[in-house]
Amino acid sequence: MKYKRILLKLSGESLMGEKSFGIDNNRLSAYARQIKDVREMGVEVAIVIGGGNIFRGVQAEEGGMDRTHGDYMGMLATMINSMALQAALESVGVQSRLQSAIEMKEIAEPFVRRRAVRHLEKGRVVIFGAGTGNPYFTTDSAASLRAIEINADVILKGTRVDGIYTSDPEKDENATKYDMISFDDVYGNGLKVMDMTAFTLCKENDLPIIVFDMDTPGNLLRVLQGDQVGTLVRN
Ligand code: GTP
Repeated sequence: MKYKRILLKLSGESLMGEKSFGIDNNRLSAYARQIKDVREMGVEVAIVIGGGNIFRGVQAEEGGMDRTHGDYMGMLATMINSMALQAALESVGVQSRLQSAIEMKEIAEPFVRRRAVRHLEKGRVVIFGAGTGNPYFTTDSAASLRAIEINADVILKGTRVDGIYTSDPEKDENATKYDMISFDDVYGNGLKVMDMTAFTLCKENDLPIIVFDMDTPGNLLRVLQGDQVGTLVRN
């Protein structure tokens, strides 16, 4: 395996699958099976999942709600997805622990870095819920922060597109996909991988990002086997 410890960032929107809201159980169990496959290869897996299928803080602001308030609602949305994912992992026999950045001790362990690392060493999948616990930070930022804290080898950002393109492939038929690109070139070419807070956190801590299509079964394993899947961003 190319990487020993990974931080997998899953998008909340992707969890909707074919639905227009909420959680598609087929998609959820497809993710759980992919995670099981890489766990069985001995890879240590930590996960951060977004909440956009349920609630987005930015939308709240558009509706006149205070941004901070909306962001906290978004953090709770990530907890719902995290709990769903934990149940899905359990149903395929993968041991997991859920840690929350906001204390809700009846349903999740509090985030304790050393404990999370211990869980990973014991082969448990660790899901980090409630983002960073702070408003104005995205779940991509939470993924970057947690990845650095647990010394992950890489962030795998699962999306619906299969990597980073020279321009938007839906608008430009000449767009081509990068196999690999530097952080500086992503920035210099005005491409978008994550929001800037998340992006610079990775760059400054020399943490590579792989953007790949998580919705194609088997892709997660392929990335970890070193196959050319998605786009690698690194210094
Ligand atoms: P080890 O002690 O390393 O074996 O880890 P462990 O997670 O199995 O031990 P522990 O006894 O701490 O946890 C047993 C179960 O309780 C696990 O499913 C934990 O996720 C859960 N758990 C532990 N602490 C909390 C907590 O503060 N709140 C909630 N809701 N669950 C917790």
